[in-house]
Amino acid sequence: MTFWKSKPSSGMAEMERGAPVQAFYGPAKLPVIERARGVYMWDSAGKRYLDGSSGPIVANIGHGNPKVLAAMAEQAQKVCFASRAVFENAPNRALAQRLVGLAGLAFDQAFIVSGGSEATEAALKLARQYAVAKGEASRFKVLSLMPSYHGGTLGAVAITGDSDSAAMFAPITRMMPKIPAPLSYRPPENHSAESYARHCAQALEDTIRAEGPESVLAFILEPVGGLATGANVPPAAYMRTIREICTRHGVLLIFDEVMSGAGRTGAFLAAEHWPDATPDIVTLAKGLAAGYTPLGAVLAPNRIVEPVVASGGFMHGHTYAANPLSCAIGDAVLGELVAQNMVENAAEMGRYLAENLREIAANSTIIGDIRGKGLLMAAEIVADKASRAMLPPAARAVYRLLEIGTELGLMLYARKTSGGAYGEWLMIAPPLNITRAEADELLALFVATIAAFERELRSAGLI
Ligand SMILES: Cc1ncc(COP(=O)(O)O)c(C=O)c1O
Repeated sequence: MTFWKSKPSSGMAEMERGAPVQAFYGPAKLPVIERARGVYMWDSAGKRYLDGSSGPIVANIGHGNPKVLAAMAEQAQKVCFASRAVFENAPNRALAQRLVGLAGLAFDQAFIVSGGSEATEAALKLARQYAVAKGEASRFKVLSLMPSYHGGTLGAVAITGDSDSAAMFAPITRMMPKIPAPLSYRPPENHSAESYARHCAQALEDTIRAEGPESVLAFILEPVGGLATGANVPPAAYMRTIREICTRHGVLLIFDEVMSGAGRTGAFLAAEHWPDATPDIVTLAKGLAAGYTPLGAVLAPNRIVEPVVASGGFMHGHTYAANPLSCAIGDAVLGELVAQNMVENAAEMGRYLAENLREIAANSTIIGDIRGKGLLMAAEIVADKASRAMLPPAARAVYRLLEIGTELGLMLYARKTSGGAYGEWLMIAPPLNITRAEADELLALFVATIAAFERELRSAGLI
């Protein structure tokens, strides 16, 4: 079948040829971005938006940073690309050293890639090759949480906890076992958040035993949840227990810090919040280069990398991995993160925003929960705070809130995991260098957005 020649089915408008990528997702028209500086973005009509979520939790150091732009131009003048099969490049070494310096002594090496999904794939392959190099070739299963998100590539889909994605793509990948995520807001009946987290940790133990410990390679989780759980923060006891379980069974613990890493939660790695649950491998992307270039990384200790090297070298690579231009940009981004104390600011502004958002939630009808760490936060939207019931799907709650926010000049981020089976929430995650005045503006726009939606819901008789 020549798909590209086929006529659109009746009732469907013919697609413009050469349309922007949004056309793959539907007919919705979005504003056209023109320029951005700091926490603000302007569209081609000159309208200004406050970037309340750093896009999809990417713009960690804010937009248009002059030092990063200068480093970008300087490196571009020297060399943009050189094959890693032929040349080593200085920005790669500088970035790797800066990364392991920031990540701490648990990590010796950084394998540089071009994004979060690539980081997931590289982490899984590194783990697998390490097990084989150690003489444990039977280990291949990677356990993960339901719900969770680890990327869009097929290896990442196999470990992502999302029923819609599984329904569509399971036949073309090998889906891996899932265990329940320790969601804090809607624990099952007869459970508190803490007792449910204990139950979820026990599910890891039970699943490893049921699958056969000798077959289990790794357990991957987002330490502070991303979009899939709405910034869910597991209790310290959960993190300690899962670390113990993994160690006891020789299972590698991988933290997906694509969203939570690079300072977002008020520590360079979210892992730092649980010092007795240090992971074996960490993935980073998003905020690592803060949107200035596609970039990701896998952090690992020599005890994992050396056996892989000794067994013949890492059997994995991407053409653009560790290219000099992206590495120089990533290094400049991290330089600014440190020089401007943005990680500390994320912790401080995170506390300030959380406090104020909780007050806003208390005065609202539809915000059931505010959670998160540092500047990785979410507001859960409900029809009824007492029962925690969700709004009906027809209300399009988080999607309508995104539309209203955009109309009012506030950019937020949301997507329903598994069609909303676990709830729905708005991510609030501004750039880490947001000032107090800008945070106040964000809060005012957020209040206006919620109030406008509540008015719509009231007139529709939904609240
Ligand atoms: C936790 C997590 N892991 C992995 C990914 C995949 O990253 P990317 O979209 O850069 O491939 C994402 C993206 O949203 C993410 O949030």
